[in-house]
Amino acid sequence: MQRRYLVAGNWKMNGSYGANAALIASLKQRAGEYDAVEIVVCPPAVYLESVGRELADSPLLLGAQDLNEQATPGAFTGEILGAMLAEVGCRYVIVGHSERRALYGETDLRGAEKFAAAQAARLIPILCVGETLEERKNGSTESVLQRQLEAVIEACGIAAFANAVLAYEPVWAIGTGHTASPEQAQAVHAFLRSELAKRDAIIADSLRILYGGSVKADNAAQLFAGADVDGGLIGGAALKAADFLAICLAAQKSSRS
Ligand code: PGA
Repeated sequence: MQRRYLVAGNWKMNGSYGANAALIASLKQRAGEYDAVEIVVCPPAVYLESVGRELADSPLLLGAQDLNEQATPGAFTGEILGAMLAEVGCRYVIVGHSERRALYGETDLRGAEKFAAAQAARLIPILCVGETLEERKNGSTESVLQRQLEAVIEACGIAAFANAVLAYEPVWAIGTGHTASPEQAQAVHAFLRSELAKRDAIIADSLRILYGGSVKADNAAQLFAGADVDGGLIGGAALKAADFLAICLAAQKSSRS
């Protein structure tokens, strides 16, 4: 199965009108060259509409970093409904990022509810899974990933993965500069795909699995070379146009090799 590479920039809590406009202008100048890659930017929610407007005449797509798990509007102060994200032009939404899990108490179940809410709003969820350093060291990487994945399969069904993206983000690699080796990443991606293939081989084969965690311009090509690595979820390096574009170029080259 030929899976289209996807590179998504997770800006996290960074940005301003000025910085966003400069970054998007630089990305737009080159984005058309990477026609084999789907490129997504995920700015903070307050900037989605303005960034979306700037992306309008480009192949770049808009994504959000989080959404509320409700399916309908209501009294949830400070929260954002999936339908609102769709209305301002989002196509993707990150779900279950480890920062949401660790800093805001997001459980596997809540992640599964958000995954369902995203799809109900016709958004494509980018579901993040990953183990902590302690879990890797004590040999529980696979059981942790199974648990995180299982919560979503149980709540939403395997068919829901036909319209989703999975991101393997080892917590110990996020923002630390310690990326997983290409072999470590490929091994986990193959494991995740095989877990899904036990339920549905066709869906597993077509699912894009991104790697995230200190992806940089100089390590992206090796990481993307893994047979089961279909692109990246990029944090820090997504804030600099040259770095993000170099990562997109690495994906473009991998997709041709
Ligand atoms: P990083 O973040 O690239 O800065 O490590 C990745 C992420 O959290 O999605």
